[in-house]
Amino acid sequence: MGLVCLQSTVSSTPVMLIRAERGGAPNEGGAGGGRSPYPRRMTAIPTPALVVLVGPSGSGKTTWARQRFASNEIVSSDALRAVVGSGEGDLDASDDAFAVLDAVVAARTRRGLTTVIDTLGLDAARRAAAIAVGRAAGLPVVAVRFSTALDLCRARNRLRDRPVPAPALAAQFRRAAAADLAADGFDLVTIAEPDSVPEPAHAPGGGAAAAAQREQPAGLRFALQISSFPWGPDPIAPRSWLADVARTAEQAGFAAVAVMDHLLQIPQVGRVWDAIPEAYVTLGYLAGVTELIELGALVTPVTFRTAPLLAKIIASLDAVSGGRAFCGLGAGWYEREHAAYDLPFPDVKSRLDALETTIGTLRAFWGPGTKPHAGQPETTCYPRPGRIPIIVGGGGERRTLEIVARLADGCNLSSSLPVLDRKLEVLRAHLARAGRSLDDLRVTVLDLPIVGTDPDQVSRLVEAHRGRTSAKAYAAAHHAGTVDQHVGRYRLLADRGVQTVFVSLPDLTGPAEVERFAPIVQAFSGSPSAQP
Ligand code: UTP
Ligand code: MG
Repeated sequence: MGLVCLQSTVSSTPVMLIRAERGGAPNEGGAGGGRSPYPRRMTAIPTPALVVLVGPSGSGKTTWARQRFASNEIVSSDALRAVVGSGEGDLDASDDAFAVLDAVVAARTRRGLTTVIDTLGLDAARRAAAIAVGRAAGLPVVAVRFSTALDLCRARNRLRDRPVPAPALAAQFRRAAAADLAADGFDLVTIAEPDSVPEPAHAPGGGAAAAAQREQPAGLRFALQISSFPWGPDPIAPRSWLADVARTAEQAGFAAVAVMDHLLQIPQVGRVWDAIPEAYVTLGYLAGVTELIELGALVTPVTFRTAPLLAKIIASLDAVSGGRAFCGLGAGWYEREHAAYDLPFPDVKSRLDALETTIGTLRAFWGPGTKPHAGQPETTCYPRPGRIPIIVGGGGERRTLEIVARLADGCNLSSSLPVLDRKLEVLRAHLARAGRSLDDLRVTVLDLPIVGTDPDQVSRLVEAHRGRTSAKAYAAAHHAGTVDQHVGRYRLLADRGVQTVFVSLPDLTGPAEVERFAPIVQAFSGSPSAQP
């Protein structure tokens, strides 16, 4: 057994790193620690990281890197020879090219940015220097060895404009094979293979989970959460913009469309003068332009409307949508919108009390018959809706999750895996005390993903939307990744019992971003458990 488990010295959280060389077997579970629950073994390269490629000319280093990393993450001595010299083959420019390469690597790693050093990687002193630079920056330093057969390197080399002389290639091959990468002190040493994937540190195990999802799909429902309304200045644009976005979501297989219930655009999403239409007016319109998707607000603060009035509004939404309404409910938090719209904003205890009583009032108004309820003389509410699920948003451990456990049909939690794990643990304890279990609850999460079709697009989107936040922090907060990386992360959520992911796309401008998400929805729609 050649696997050596190391406690990483470079990560703030303990990370189990596995050296996959010598024993031959690729690692299990990637950098996330522990054994993967998925059958397929694959080598996951944790990102952000400093990645050092090692292999002779023609072994496929540049090709491999380009399939997995954004162009600006790959620092290539060949490409830099073409910058500081006459072209990639200008060997006289090598010293200058390597000086620039070192400067680029130092600058990027200092910012915590993933960097792939695309050189032959044969110089032990250069490898040691890379390890020192990466470690000083707190990044895992990963070696990727290319063990392509010499004959194949030769054959590829012959096809090139400037082939490396045969003896030089043979010498490169021998030096690459002799490089003792395990002794160098890399945090992870791996062999380049088709399955090896960059795996963002925020979703350890995501690579194997994506493979598991391809082979044995789990079901997961997606709800498009429309949080911003960039429909432009044209006064008639909102109608077609909303209809296009919602219909595209429906065609893409989303199970629901949700809107935020806010009276002012919230600072987490946009500027206070950005459009944010009233939630239930918008949902009523969406009911008319869609056929299948469920509709609701995530979430309605109990402070905005009296509970009976809210019951009436949502019952009406259920009627005009043909039974497609759900009710997202929360305690409210944005004081400014209450002041602006002349609504009382009591203290948090009172708001949580109101959350609890509102659930009872909604159920009473939606239930059969009419009778006095909690100080109300009657609960007359026609049209009478079918069973409308009440999804309580919020992760407050002492009261909100306790209210969820006793009274709600579902919860809405953070999609961050460590946060979710913690909240589910608390929720399970509250549920046990209430004589219920997680099986009795619709577990939903709110996710704000940056999704790109390839690593270059992911990188561009992060840069376009990060504002003053660093790229590293923004990418982590928004789980920035390719479709496949998101499929892996969502599979990890599904395996934790999540049934619905509310997806608020930070880069939403219209139907195009919804369509870009469609392959993810489809990856989870094959299983019977995906049906509502
Ligand atoms: P690369 O250009 O990726 O090799 O592939 P390399 O290791 O980076 O080589 P140097 O060190 O920069 O010289 C070499 C050739 O082999 C093809 C590529 O298209 C390229 O023409 N190739 C590579 C394949 O056909 N299949 C592969 O899996 C990898
Ligand atoms: Mg190359």
